[in-house]
Amino acid sequence: KISEASIYDLPKFLDKRGNLSFVEELKNIPFKIERIYWLYDVPGGETRGGHAYKENSEFIIALSGSFDVLLDDGDQHKTYTLNRSYHGLYVPKGLWREMNNFSTNSLALILASTKYNINDYVRDYAEFLKIAKYEKE
Ligand code: TYD
Repeated sequence: KISEASIYDLPKFLDKRGNLSFVEELKNIPFKIERIYWLYDVPGGETRGGHAYKENSEFIIALSGSFDVLLDDGDQHKTYTLNRSYHGLYVPKGLWREMNNFSTNSLALILASTKYNINDYVRDYAEFLKIAKYEKE
């Protein structure tokens, strides 16, 4: 399951006037975008996330600065460092994820496949492990 997560190389137009990158849903990312949110002014040392989603898949871009995204499928975990505006991390639904090591003035843009739904969150790691184990069987 964690093997389904990966860094996507987005199109980039390098230009001496300034660089440009973009995403088109279902073309550069594998889902339709239902929601966009961003994380900013994250104080040093803070962790965001710390949960899984049952249905929501996400695409995370470090528009500015850098941060780490830890992914865990209950079996294996992997940490990705995002620090390029033209890289995006595809996080399929059903993975535990945490974001930390935010640099000063970093800006995380998250494209999401579903509307906000509080019932889609799994915030308890033990419960997540139960669901992950059940889905493997
Ligand atoms: P949350 O996803 O819980 O952040 P984190 O996982 O980093 O703790 O979001 C924090 C709050 O923001 C939550 O209480 C509800 C609100 N929120 C929305 O209303 N819509 C959204 O799309 C998101 C992502 C959060």
